Amino acid sequence: MYGEMMREEYFKTNAKDWMEGAYEGKRNLYPVGVHRLRIAKDIITEYADGKTLKILDVGCGGGKLCVELAKRGHTVHGIDQSYQMLTLSRQLIHEQLGKSNNIKLSYGNFESRTFKKNHYDVIVALGVIGYIKDKKSLFTLAKQSLKPGGLLIISCRNRLFNMFPTSIYIEDEISGGNANHLIREIRNIYSLYTKKPFPKKPKESPSQQTPDEMIALGKENGLETLSFRGVHPHFFTKELSARLLEYEDSPLSLIWSSVFIVTLKKTTDGLITKRKQGGGSCHESHLHN
Ligand SMILES: C[S@@+](CC[C@H](N)C(=O)[O-])C[C@H]1O[C@@H](n2cnc3c(N)ncnc32)[C@H](O)[C@@H]1O
Repeated sequence: MYGEMMREEYFKTNAKDWMEGAYEGKRNLYPVGVHRLRIAKDIITEYADGKTLKILDVGCGGGKLCVELAKRGHTVHGIDQSYQMLTLSRQLIHEQLGKSNNIKLSYGNFESRTFKKNHYDVIVALGVIGYIKDKKSLFTLAKQSLKPGGLLIISCRNRLFNMFPTSIYIEDEISGGNANHLIREIRNIYSLYTKKPFPKKPKESPSQQTPDEMIALGKENGLETLSFRGVHPHFFTKELSARLLEYEDSPLSLIWSSVFIVTLKKTTDGLITKRKQGGGSCHESHLHN
């Protein structure tokens, strides 16, 4: 997990580097930013249905989504606590939209700001929740500042992906103490096949979430979960992963994706009825979409 210091400092000193990895695939990274942005844009465009919306982009980073949304006529407020990231945002806005545009940028930690109540049609936070201490803060922000019926769109690191194997024998291997040995054997095959060492886990990385956690936080704050989309499929090789992109709208993609996007909707009365809450697994209703 990122320590408090690391969380704040990383994007203050690595803004350009992060943007190049996430959007240009530099350093052999998967361009996760491109895919997240594409999916978020599609969700918002469908929701807008030709209307223009008021949108808050929390942790707007280098401003790519702000610009895309503003180009579609939406009024966008981006906030970020990295001055470096906001400088990149300003440059991009200037290059793509010029001086007169419908984007407002704010510098600072969104958790210590107050936002207008019942004001936004959409609040979006891509790649942010993993860095914040109190995950609830995003949901309370949505509860207070979304208009009734408004959308909260969040992308998370997917904790379910840590348990990717779908074999029915996996519990036996874990309880029998063989899991580590088998994982090593699998990784050796990966290295032999791809001629690359298996990637090392970074010392510091953002926190991960599960879909059920997001559903539960939503419910506590009067937000109904509408959908999940898997982002960044992992299937050993780029070619195999690319084939899985066609399943990104299916909840099945939650199994093999290291990132997911969840879309929640603020209910008109701020309450979720018993029927909507459902029983059993939180994914049931979404698995049949
Ligand atoms: C992984 S980057 C994602 C940037 C952008 N959303 C995108 O997808 O391109 C995360 C951004 O969130 C910002 N951030 C993290 N915690 C924040 C907070 N509490 N308040 C405001 N910004 C925050 C960071 O400074 C960083 O720019």
